[in-house]
Amino acid sequence: MTGYAGGDRRIALPTITRALISFATLLSAFAASALAADADRGRQLAAAHCAPCHVVGRDGRGEVAVAPPFETIARKHGFDATAIVRAIAGPHPRMNFAPRPAEAADVAAYIATLK
Ligand code: HEC
Repeated sequence: MTGYAGGDRRIALPTITRALISFATLLSAFAASALAADADRGRQLAAAHCAPCHVVGRDGRGEVAVAPPFETIARKHGFDATAIVRAIAGPHPRMNFAPRPAEAADVAAYIATLK
């Protein structure tokens, strides 16, 4: 019984390693798509899918919004598109739209332009 449990532990480590490697691959795929992103398409996606809750432009400071303005999100993440993609892909329970990685990268590229 003890020997069997030890065997389980030897199997579990490579499994965890594989899971970590695929997570790292996923993150670098996000990073790579952030580089190829299209800020104009991101602006259109943001207007269509994010504007109901977020102020997505530079000129909406006076508007009442239920979510942080994109300018604030851009500043918080240092205008780093990769960090913004991670924030978009992260837990976002109230968002009614799940962007594909390429769409998240486009929106992040747009958000990063809001300096
Ligand atoms: C239904 C309303 C809603 C929609 C639509 C929505 N959001 Fe949000 N978003 C929120 C709310 C509320 C928060 C703050 C609380 C939270 O994180 O759940 C938030 C937070 C965020 C954050 C995290 C901000 C931070 O502090 O890091 C990011 C990034 C974000 N939204 C991006 C987007 C993008 C991009 C879209 C469009 C693709 C979008 N959101 C659409 C409601 C929305």
